[in-house]
Amino acid sequence: MRAAVLGVTGYTGLVLLRLLAEHPQVDDIVPVSSSQPGSPVDAIDFGLSPAIASKLRSTGGKTIAVDEAARLAAKPGIDVVFSALPHVKSAVVCAPFLGRSVVIDLSADFRFADAAVFAAVYGQAHPRPELLRQAVYGLAEWHTERIREADIIANPGCYPTATLLPLLPLARAGLVDGTVVANAISGISGAGKKERVDLLYSERTENAGAYNPGRSHRHAPEIEGELKAVRASLSLLFTPHLAPLKRGMCVSTVVRLAKDPPAEGAGSVAAILSEAYRGRPFIRLTGPRVPQTRDVWGSNRCDIGWQREGDHLLVFSAIDNLVKGASGQAVQNMNIRFGLDEAAGLPQHGEL
Ligand SMILES: NC(=O)c1ccc[n+]([C@@H]2O[C@H](COP(=O)([O-])OP(=O)(O)OC[C@H]3O[C@@H](n4cnc5c(N)ncnc54)[C@H](OP(=O)(O)O)[C@@H]3O)[C@@H](O)[C@H]2O)c1
Repeated sequence: MRAAVLGVTGYTGLVLLRLLAEHPQVDDIVPVSSSQPGSPVDAIDFGLSPAIASKLRSTGGKTIAVDEAARLAAKPGIDVVFSALPHVKSAVVCAPFLGRSVVIDLSADFRFADAAVFAAVYGQAHPRPELLRQAVYGLAEWHTERIREADIIANPGCYPTATLLPLLPLARAGLVDGTVVANAISGISGAGKKERVDLLYSERTENAGAYNPGRSHRHAPEIEGELKAVRASLSLLFTPHLAPLKRGMCVSTVVRLAKDPPAEGAGSVAAILSEAYRGRPFIRLTGPRVPQTRDVWGSNRCDIGWQREGDHLLVFSAIDNLVKGASGQAVQNMNIRFGLDEAAGLPQHGEL
């Protein structure tokens, strides 16, 4: 397979490059960069092994510009285009590849079916509203069947991935009602490789705090939309926190139980989650053990734990924001879309 990565010099682009380099069915990677076209890939990231050059066959081991990639897509073909570009920019750059390549977009551009919702949340008009009906929300374990047929896969945000995976099966089973209160912690790489004063080492080290609380973070409507699709009466209060971690994300969610589930057996929280994720390689249920970011660092896993507290349920999840929260889930979606082993080329273990 031939796969292109747009925005390859960013964090998620570079993780995509690493994952695709190890993928058994990908034999040609096309790295695309607007800021550094024509660069050997070890010049954009010296951490990459020189061995990766053997997988960059069409470009001679170098990055290419977007126009060149579009020309390449027209002739011998590019099976899949991953876009690791900022929102609004992404839909514009992806458009010429559609019809020739499957597009997997890591930005927010295709996550909402309604362009008016996108404009309200992101404060800008959607640049290609006519494409939205082709897109499928790429929460890999939840929309698997639709992803198999999709021309555009809208990779979910990292906070939505970690928040929704534990909640959706419980909501579908009628266990959750009313307002869901989710508090999340993210590593700094969640903000991308940007030059911003508030992301400087001296601003972030030994420092943690909430930002965009309640309903003001852009991921809140994305999470709430998926929850409401399962149970319309649900609403969300979502408060993200930034912590001095390079990568990693965990979410602690409190829900009021709509009914009294048994502690074990049919209808229990354990049974509902086990049934929903039976055979899925990247969900690990940890029961009362609270998952930690270190357990999943570098892996494509989402670990999910829970504890009952009277008539409330506390639900915990942890992912690596750059892997299951972005590039790893994108490769998982490629695997599903092309009928490959869902886990092909993807890391299972957290790193020490
Ligand atoms: N970081 C995360 O944890 C995470 C998780 C889920 C989703 N996402 C989404 O994935 C996308 C990429 O995120 P990222 O963290 O990899 O971002 P990033 O580190 O800031 O990289 C974005 C890349 O896009 C390219 N680009 C092209 N036009 C640009 C422009 N006008 N402004 C800035 N960059 C431009 C650049 O690469 P070239 O110069 O090489 O083209 C840049 O390196 C974003 O839409 C983000 O919201 C990120």
